[in-house]
Amino acid sequence: FAAREAPKPLASRHALVTSGPTYEPIDPVRYIANRSSGKQGHAVAASLAALGARVTLVSGPVRLPDPPGVDVVAVETAAEMLAACRAALPADIFVAAAAVADWRVEAAGQKLKKDGGGPPTLALSENPDILASLSAPSPDRPALVIGFAAETNDIVAYARAKRLRKGCDWIVANDVSPATGTFGGDRNSVYVIRADGTEEAWENLAKTEVARRLADAISNHFETGKK
Ligand code: CTP
Ligand code: CA
Repeated sequence: FAAREAPKPLASRHALVTSGPTYEPIDPVRYIANRSSGKQGHAVAASLAALGARVTLVSGPVRLPDPPGVDVVAVETAAEMLAACRAALPADIFVAAAAVADWRVEAAGQKLKKDGGGPPTLALSENPDILASLSAPSPDRPALVIGFAAETNDIVAYARAKRLRKGCDWIVANDVSPATGTFGGDRNSVYVIRADGTEEAWENLAKTEVARRLADAISNHFETGKK
């Protein structure tokens, strides 16, 4: 007879994860994007699913396969990402790993043409902050909200301030200075900063290993009930 499998630690939990870049249209044929590959966010979604969570992954355009056992919602713009996240609530866990464009363009309805009048001026407006919005106190707020902070310098100091500003419980600060090759690469060096004041450095690990450690930390958090 078959041995019964041990229950997985995040079974019964719903995790919402954002990943990848957003694309912000300039006109019907052009857009502004960024260099996020989605590797870290997709790996987090896969690791949470491996621990038994039901995972909704809201992702901007990436060249990655859907992680196994994860519900993927494909979006392009920051506004679509926010709407898809809200639609996926309630969730116990929210991990904001996407590189959301800070600004969108007031997009033209038709293709902009070289009409002899010189280059167009792009009018930008600020995008909604998905992490801050889902972190805000509300009956729908996920019990554990985790942001990422991409920094090139003064990483820990900026990340501490960012965690407070966003209202999230933990922030995973990653060093994206060009020498690290983090953007698009397979490795990451991160600092995990928690509301309880604990800080840990996880240095020079595969993004998949960062994801496994984060999923383990999340599962421990729910087991011990501490923030
Ligand atoms: N984020 C978000 N929505 C935005 C911008 C950022 O959800 N419109 C999330 C990211 O997914 C990440 C965290 O906020 O989890 C921090 O993103 P980051 O770009 O480092 O922070 P910003 O507040 O945009 O500050 P800046 O880019 O100026 O450093
Ligand atoms: Ca930003």
